[in-house]
Amino acid sequence: MRFMSQGFWQKLKKPIMALAPMADVTDAAFRRIIAKYGKPDVMFTEFTSADGLVSGGKEKLLPNLLYSESERPIVAQLFSGNPEKLFEAARLVKELGFDGLDINMGCPDRSIEKAGAGAVLIKNPKLARELIRAAKKGSKLPVSIKTRLGYGKDILEEWLSELLAEEPAAITIHARTRKEMSKVPAHWGRIQRAVEIRTELKSEALILGNGDAVSLADAHRKAAETGADGVMLGRAIFGNPFLFAEQKYDLRFRMYDLRRKLEILVEHTKLFKELLGKHKNFAIMKKHFKAYVASFSGAKELRTKLMEASSASEVQDIAEIFSMPQ
Ligand SMILES: Cc1cc2nc3c(=O)[nH]c(=O)nc-3n(C[C@H](O)[C@H](O)[C@H](O)COP(=O)(O)O)c2cc1C
Repeated sequence: MRFMSQGFWQKLKKPIMALAPMADVTDAAFRRIIAKYGKPDVMFTEFTSADGLVSGGKEKLLPNLLYSESERPIVAQLFSGNPEKLFEAARLVKELGFDGLDINMGCPDRSIEKAGAGAVLIKNPKLARELIRAAKKGSKLPVSIKTRLGYGKDILEEWLSELLAEEPAAITIHARTRKEMSKVPAHWGRIQRAVEIRTELKSEALILGNGDAVSLADAHRKAAETGADGVMLGRAIFGNPFLFAEQKYDLRFRMYDLRRKLEILVEHTKLFKELLGKHKNFAIMKKHFKAYVASFSGAKELRTKLMEASSASEVQDIAEIFSMPQ
């Protein structure tokens, strides 16, 4: 029974290296690129409204839940403050073939908090626990949580015990409070404490730490120092789909091979157009252009040109002209 509730999480080799969910960044296109060039142990979709999925918003939101087989294990991340709606949406997540379901209990976005979802759940553990139960019942998948140390202040001890009582498969802790947003360095010492609490409470939930890991090596170091079962990396993936393959790749394929980098930028842009072009604004690609095209001679000029592009074919032309021998 316990094995079933842990699902794929049980099979992952520790320390688990996870890709963070990031709205308008780790979408279906970027995740497919990442799966190809440096696959993490587990990936998450961008957060998606459970309430929207089971109402009129479904067609608009479904592109958020697109994924390819190459991304497995792939976890759908939902947010909700309504157990009935989460139950229904969790059934859909199961139908769509996901490996797991993650509930967002850490997002500081006001509009999400107004719906009783995201970080505000830290102030309402009773509802948070109902949501976990509803997600488990609806999806029959391993359910994980992504949260923070507290809301206004760090209440890790109380908050984590509440979550662990529902026996989730895994809990990712972004090692800051809601109030701290991302303005202070992540408190990795608290991840170590989270692991201790888990052990004291004899829980089998996996603990993943999150916040400020800058490379795979740094993530491994943080896991070793804190005893965490894994580390989730977010912003470090910007412009670097090789992040999770740091040690495996031959130097020739490292991201500082400019031509290679631009080829991947074009591949990524084409995938975005193919998979999401009808649903999402092309402007979303621009933050990727900024990240891919940095720290080399001529980067600024190239970036300016790419920022003006409005289609995948324009991006391809610009990148090809730049890559031509001068
Ligand atoms: C652009 C952006 C979008 C994000 N979207 C989500 C999201 O959809 N769901 C979520 O749980 N966290 C989201 N986060 C938070 C990240 O998953 C992660 O917790 C945070 O960036 C800290 O990790 P890092 O220092 O490795 O980036 C987002 C962060 C960024 C920068």
